[in-house]
Amino acid sequence: MNLEIDSSPVANERTPEELLRIIFDYTAKIGSQRSLKSVLLLMADMGREMILADRCTVWLIDRNRGELFTTIAHGVSEIRQPLGSGFVGHSIMTGENLLIEDAYQDPRHNDANDLRTGYVTKSLITVPFVGNDGSIIGAYQAINKLTPQAVFTDRDLEQLKLAASYAGKSLESVMLHEEIVATQREIIFTMGEIGESRSKETGNHVKRVAEYSYILALGYGLSQEEAELLKLVSPMHDIGKVAIPDSVLNKPGKLTEEEFEQMKNHTTIGYNLLKNSDRELLKTAAIVAYEHHEKWNGTGYPQGLKGEEIHLYGRITAIADVFDALGSERVYKKAWELERILILFNEERDRHFEARLVDVLNEQLPAILDIRNRYRDQ
Ligand SMILES: [Fe+2]
Ligand SMILES: [Fe+2]
Repeated sequence: MNLEIDSSPVANERTPEELLRIIFDYTAKIGSQRSLKSVLLLMADMGREMILADRCTVWLIDRNRGELFTTIAHGVSEIRQPLGSGFVGHSIMTGENLLIEDAYQDPRHNDANDLRTGYVTKSLITVPFVGNDGSIIGAYQAINKLTPQAVFTDRDLEQLKLAASYAGKSLESVMLHEEIVATQREIIFTMGEIGESRSKETGNHVKRVAEYSYILALGYGLSQEEAELLKLVSPMHDIGKVAIPDSVLNKPGKLTEEEFEQMKNHTTIGYNLLKNSDRELLKTAAIVAYEHHEKWNGTGYPQGLKGEEIHLYGRITAIADVFDALGSERVYKKAWELERILILFNEERDRHFEARLVDVLNEQLPAILDIRNRYRDQ
């Protein structure tokens, strides 16, 4: 944060100009954030700089666990505490702002964190945040004033309330955004599992393919963002199998030519199910469903695409899917030994698979085997 503001322990109170500058700087930054973690960090920094606190923490309510948590606190990592405990718990339960001169003189003080960290809380302020529907979603907590007087004033309390009302809106929209993404993720994942469970490829196949794709994508040089996207969509590669008859899907023996033609349709069916969506996530999933059986040398299906005509996400999912399928037991085959799988992949360089991706698979093998161990089938 380059605000060129002196925040040494003997700093004087902020001038109105400084305060405005801090608010403008931070609200602009906070407004452009997409991740909850960075909003929490920026909000905490803003509060701390505005009122010259030694530490400032933004607490959120985790109603499922009946706890308060903070992802970031200056100088400490994630902390959780029971919903109603301590000053911040009091503020959140009652909606009251608190301005405390000496924490240890107050029975509401929960000294568990001090005891654990060796830090000594003296003066503090807590201010609850209110969401759009009027309910409390969390609270600001500022600890230990850095001026020589070492106590917070009513002015500090007013300013922290101001910070809470400015930043609270962004906080809520980021929380909503994360909620939406988490919901999409769950739905997509469930769809993928439906596709796989139809063909009795149950267990953790879908989960492993997601993780392998992610590792391969990063190893290939894709950005974190793209790798995350692929991890979300690759589990849906076989969603089209929902429309393939059981007699074909679960036939223990070899498929007839006609049955195999029918089976191949799962790629086009999956594509048609997803392609009309306006959502980037589902559009990308459509590509993966369509192209995960294409081969680098052009002998795959359904379109017979060749080399880079095949979308990179399709090429990566193909490797992840085949690697996992070979290593797992299926109705028609036993699980292969790792050595045999690797021999096959190296033989299929430039044939089924892009050579560069086979190299990435070899390089990333420890991470991939780690995933395989973690998500073993029962
Ligand atoms: Fe498939
Ligand atoms: Fe699969």
